[in-house]
Amino acid sequence: MKILMVCLGNICRSPLAEGILAHKAKEAGLHWTVDSAGTNGYHTGEAPHHLSQKVARLNGIDICAQRARQFVKEDFDRFDMIYAMADDVLEEIRRIAREKYDPSKVDLFLNALHPGQNSSVPDPWYGTEPGYHEVYKLIEQTCEKIIENATLQARNIRS
Ligand code: 4NP
Repeated sequence: MKILMVCLGNICRSPLAEGILAHKAKEAGLHWTVDSAGTNGYHTGEAPHHLSQKVARLNGIDICAQRARQFVKEDFDRFDMIYAMADDVLEEIRRIAREKYDPSKVDLFLNALHPGQNSSVPDPWYGTEPGYHEVYKLIEQTCEKIIENATLQARNIRS
């Protein structure tokens, strides 16, 4: 599986989602490729926001080597699944991808945790440190659910 996490700036939410899912997939013995991108290019080349780095580090996950990049339509060729952190991000993915847009490969990230609710991960960029801790917990729960679903699916295929 190749999974791409997408938010607006690729410095707050999606770097956490990339770091957490990659860590948990490895722990579960899954050989997944996990990457992240942003729909705007404002922070291209930058490391994750220092508070995203801090909350990840406090939870034993190192995301400091990540660098922001912009989402490109070719990501639809490279990835099996693309998760949008929010509904505005999903709209931008659709706009950027144009003819490459494949709805079967895209979903709102939180639909993995709460199917069909179409809710968005709040953007901590505009707030203070507690917001980053809340977002971390939400992203972690969702990543755990993604791993759980994949593990159950693999078991069903085998039996
Ligand atoms: P992110 O947060 O999408 O979670 O990385 C943001 C970071 C920067 C901006 C917006 C959202 N910005 O407009 O610069």
